Amino acid sequence: MLRTNLTILFIVIGTLTVYTAVANMIPQVESEVPEATTIGADVTPEELATIGEELYAGAGGCMACHGLGTRAPDLLGVAGTNCATRREGLGCKEYLYESLTEPGVFVIEGFQPIMTDMRRILSESQIWALVAFLQSQGGEITVTAADIPPESAGGDAGGGGGTGGASGPGIDTAVTDPVELLRASICLACHQLGEEGVALGPRLDEMAGRLDPEYIRRSILLPNADTAEGFEEVAGTMPMNFGDQLSAGQLETIVRFLAGDR
Ligand code: HEC
Ligand code: HEC
Repeated sequence: MLRTNLTILFIVIGTLTVYTAVANMIPQVESEVPEATTIGADVTPEELATIGEELYAGAGGCMACHGLGTRAPDLLGVAGTNCATRREGLGCKEYLYESLTEPGVFVIEGFQPIMTDMRRILSESQIWALVAFLQSQGGEITVTAADIPPESAGGDAGGGGGTGGASGPGIDTAVTDPVELLRASICLACHQLGEEGVALGPRLDEMAGRLDPEYIRRSILLPNADTAEGFEEVAGTMPMNFGDQLSAGQLETIVRFLAGDR
């Protein structure tokens, strides 16, 4: 009896060891998402600008529109100067903050109002980091740690984003309709669906049948894993923090919808 029990125990331990070894060999998908940088209360303006620069080129998705031809104004080198005179009564810092959080209030002549409220994908501290970075482009950085509301200071920055809590933005978990989810997750800032959206990436309503759910899920969580044919030039512009923004259920709703399993 003892022998049998011991044999079973060894088999169990042996199997577990093999499974653990195999699991460790499989690349950890999550770990490829950029590490979150913490923005502490003692962050310097220069540190903020550096974090902002990373967001600008990465998770913020700004380069999907800015710096690529004429769909959006150039910001590099000039944003810190232009901001002072755009809107009467608004200082540079205030104007840039407004541009990111209420982009519809003032739309530069000759451009379409296609920018979305960045609070949907970025935390308050990340937005202030972007403002600091933009000020550094031709101007003086006047953003300080004091601008960041206390409840969001110490929140995530970098590509991490936050899950729940006061500091994390995240998509409202009450949203469950697939089309509403695509709108709330700003997918339509870069993809078209029916009459809506912007034609930067492939159309969302032409993925069914062409892409399998596995591929779609990976494209959303790890946008750089594959590049859509014909979109090589704009590859790397899709934000990398959707894994943090969407609940598992919301992600599956989107994947099923796009895969045509409605
Ligand atoms: C979907 C395209 C798009 C994306 C993505 C986008 N923008 Fe814009 N942005 C625009 C357009 C178009 C304008 C000009 C029209 C307007 O004023 O809204 C603009 C205007 C601005 C302005 C005002 C510039 C000025 O000279 O007054 C700032 C600042 C800005 N964007 C920053 C950003 C940052 C930072 C990001 C990333 C977090 C970003 N934008 C993402 C399209 C975009
Ligand atoms: C800032 C712009 C931007 C945003 C926001 C964005 N995407 Fe993308 N997406 C792209 C671009 C550009 C591509 C094509 C280049 C590539 O494959 O990396 C792409 C590719 C994809 C693909 C792969 C398509 C293919 O044919 O291989 C899927 C799926 C996708 N996006 C879904 C989404 C969903 C869902 C959302 C919202 C949760 C979203 N995207 C938000 C820009 C964006």
